Amino acid sequence: MEFTIKAFAKINVSLDVLSKMANGYHEIRSVMQSVDLCDEITLKLRSERGIRIETNLRYLPNDRRNLAFRAAELFFSETGLIDRGADIRIKKRIPVCAGLGGGSSDAAAVLRALNIMTEAGMDLQTLEKMGERLGSDVPFCVAGGTALAAGRGEILLDLPPLPDCRVLICKPGFSCSTPELFEKTDKKPPLRHPDTDGITEALRAGLIKDIAQRMYNVFEEALPRQAGAVSEIKSAMSDAGALGTVMSGTGPAVFGLFDDPAGAALAYERLNKIYRDCFSVIPVRKHL
Ligand code: C5P
Repeated sequence: MEFTIKAFAKINVSLDVLSKMANGYHEIRSVMQSVDLCDEITLKLRSERGIRIETNLRYLPNDRRNLAFRAAELFFSETGLIDRGADIRIKKRIPVCAGLGGGSSDAAAVLRALNIMTEAGMDLQTLEKMGERLGSDVPFCVAGGTALAAGRGEILLDLPPLPDCRVLICKPGFSCSTPELFEKTDKKPPLRHPDTDGITEALRAGLIKDIAQRMYNVFEEALPRQAGAVSEIKSAMSDAGALGTVMSGTGPAVFGLFDDPAGAALAYERLNKIYRDCFSVIPVRKHL
């Protein structure tokens, strides 16, 4: 029997890097939010070992280099189901290497799906712990919604959902290296930090304008010279009425929050003439 599950993209409403930890990772503080841009993953269990991955993008690896492959491998070994395997078909819609957590969300969705399909009965915390071994953003992606992520991203505190709004995402054509951007913050610590507490208070009060005005990502200070597109996209969104704009994760995708759908539509129309990867989406609540 086949089972299909959605893997939602994430955006970083704020992203702060505090310090480098002894394990080489960086201590972060980030308000994270799932949005309804999603990949679709279809799985089929097999009664012999082996994981097979198929995607609609030819350039994506279908072996251990694919995080979804490693997620399935880890799930079977952790649950003792060592003689099981899976066929996994991934329909990608979330742009890759964009700062939108596509690979992490696929891996998290594989953990969730296999937990249901095998009736392994793992609870949320156990799945998040498994996710931690796959990548820093995977624990958040297991249940998604709205959360404050700390540590290297694995310490999660649930927050009230982002108030109703339109989220316009646009990805410029260049790509950023995550380890490189983290390293840059060691050499040149951020000049500014986001008001993370202000954002969590505004979430509690349900004030979208107060949230949007405080959005900030320290990695915007560490972008390479060719990253002018990030500020161009932000300006275009602001001109169309965005309440706030910011880059997501280590980029280069940028998003804007709009309380007026017409503004989001206008920004989409203007940006989509230049950038192929534009998406007008809405926030998604916690899904486990
Ligand atoms: O955890 P993940 O594999 O997604 O991280 C990719 C790279 O990003 C790490 O190898 C590390 O260089 C950097 N990173 C970091 N601190 C974090 C998350 C990621 O330094 N909190």
